[in-house]
Amino acid sequence: FADDGYRLWLKYDLISNKQQRESYAHFTKFIVANTQHEIIKVATDELKSGLQGLLGKQVSVLSTSKNAGGIVLQLSKNQALNDEGFTIINQNGNVVVSGNTEKGILYGTFELLRSIQTGKSLANIFITSNPKIKLRMLNHWDNPLGTIERGYAGSSLWKWYELPENIDPRYKDYARANASIGINATVVNNVNASARFMTKEYLLKVKALADVFRPYGIQIFLSVNFAAPKILKGAKTSDPLDPQVRAWWQAKTKEIYSIIPDFGGYLVKANSEGEPGPQDFGRTHADGANMLAEALKPFTGVVIWRAFVYKPSSKDDPKGDRYKEAYNDFKPLDGQFDRKVIVQVKNGPIDFQAREPFHPLFGAMPKTPLAMEFQITQEYLGFSTNLVYLAPLFKECLESDTYVKGKGSTVAKVVDGSLHDYNLTAIAGVANTGSDRNWTGHFMSQANWYAFGRLAWNHELSSAQIADEWTKMTLMQDEKAVKTVTNILLASRENYVNFTTPLGLHHIMGQGIHYGPEPWLERSARPDWASAYYHRADSVGLGFDRTKKGTEALLLYAPEVQNQWNDPNKTPLPYLLWFHHVGWKTKLSTGNTLWDELCTRYYTGLASVKEMRQQWSSVKSNVDKEIFEDVAGRLAVQEREAIWWRDACVLYFQQYSKMPIPAPFPKPE
Ligand code: GCU
Repeated sequence: FADDGYRLWLKYDLISNKQQRESYAHFTKFIVANTQHEIIKVATDELKSGLQGLLGKQVSVLSTSKNAGGIVLQLSKNQALNDEGFTIINQNGNVVVSGNTEKGILYGTFELLRSIQTGKSLANIFITSNPKIKLRMLNHWDNPLGTIERGYAGSSLWKWYELPENIDPRYKDYARANASIGINATVVNNVNASARFMTKEYLLKVKALADVFRPYGIQIFLSVNFAAPKILKGAKTSDPLDPQVRAWWQAKTKEIYSIIPDFGGYLVKANSEGEPGPQDFGRTHADGANMLAEALKPFTGVVIWRAFVYKPSSKDDPKGDRYKEAYNDFKPLDGQFDRKVIVQVKNGPIDFQAREPFHPLFGAMPKTPLAMEFQITQEYLGFSTNLVYLAPLFKECLESDTYVKGKGSTVAKVVDGSLHDYNLTAIAGVANTGSDRNWTGHFMSQANWYAFGRLAWNHELSSAQIADEWTKMTLMQDEKAVKTVTNILLASRENYVNFTTPLGLHHIMGQGIHYGPEPWLERSARPDWASAYYHRADSVGLGFDRTKKGTEALLLYAPEVQNQWNDPNKTPLPYLLWFHHVGWKTKLSTGNTLWDELCTRYYTGLASVKEMRQQWSSVKSNVDKEIFEDVAGRLAVQEREAIWWRDACVLYFQQYSKMPIPAPFPKPE
């Protein structure tokens, strides 16, 4: 049948090579498992359907066996494993998947399936794997009416009006997909939260989802509206130091746990972009977070408090810079948060741009666990009409060195807790899923959901390895075609940066919608929403001076980091205009002037999209027709958009540079 992309990377199509199928048949004569446990039950169900598809044979599940040649799922007491880790070894002719908990076994089962899906031999299989981060979460920005903030794949997966009675089978497939990549937590509602989710009516709906997700090891969290006590008329105020308000949250939390006993906790966006928060009452973020932590004290849940805060800054203040605001608000609070609080920081200081330097808070709060917030949905990366593989963006941030405890103090080590000995660790991805049949709108964006989960489990995996796995599981096995597709994926992010925001430009997209170019926006409802605030083009040059001479944002980093970015002549080109106002005629390390280099990036960025289209055409015979056509169509749209970006930006900036478009590039179309 035609493949519509619904099955994601869990396709389980018959392995076409007979010899390969037979090699797996030696180890798949039976499955031994204790299916009494609900998690083991779903693991064996998955294994059975996977083997049925991949090998075309029915494998039965036994409670015990003395024979060799099967798959054994068993509990272990292995000190090398943490709560969710697993081992897979070939022992006495059986493939043995063990974990110290059922969840570990579940993850091991998916790893075993992945090994078969990607053509690995089971004869000498020997894998030990532990997740490096405890909470590996998706954040859904889904609203009660079914819309998704910054969602580009249809409407919400959650059908609130049908819940709790009607359980869409898709909820289970969602859980399977997440479990297969180790995601163990999900926040089902938007951070711009409706207080409605705190009502009993909605909690019962949320419970219905929690019941579907539980056997897949997935815990539910809710975003909360900080003003809920007042909105729901439980108190006269929402002041976190008011006893009535504290009592309301305690009672509400107790109620939630009576309905969802393994509830994960609260995610909070407070005093940001108009959302209510403790500062409305003269209190701090710590006061607010600690009040919720107090309510959660009798339970296992935690508070995840977002650091994405900024106020309208004035363009007249020469030191004012949105870049610094979260740091200025949160750094002084280090050490004041309850032990149940994690502060969730976006990867970069502004807002999920195609490229940002790492957020200066990473490494700056040694006494507070910091969670990473990435965006999987492509808010600033071309929605679902652009092919942009995000693993390189995620990795670039995780591998950045904060130097706060000397060389090697990477952002990844802050987030996985190893640098400052945090016990609570978390990483979140703003989800790109929706009701579209293929889940993510752009078929290739499935790779971003996949890559997020794989990196959340193990941030040391390479972008290339993840791309290779995903392509083999989702698209094809043919080596040459796999190579072509992974090449497309791996180049795609840099291509996108080139035709939209090269050399460290940022936040010059269409206002509000965040789509397409709008560098000419000089004024907005707030100065820090206008493009001109960020690119600072003038007759002299281009870029935002954040050095000592400018807004001093660079001073928020460790001296070693400052050294990398302080001197415009030494700043790596990808970050140049993030930190410097550079003269149009200044020679860059490429030998070009800034103006010529800028034009070169916009033109070659477009050329690379054309090349992506050609490469995609070359794998036509390896890809299902429906998927091929859909991706080809979206690539054609992307080419049109690359022309739009190039022409808009080159012509706009040319008004300032007053220099010609360098040969050999033609004039904009
Ligand atoms: C971005 C995004 C908003 C979102 C906000 C957040 O600014 O455009 O839609 O609410 O981030 O992360 O809170």
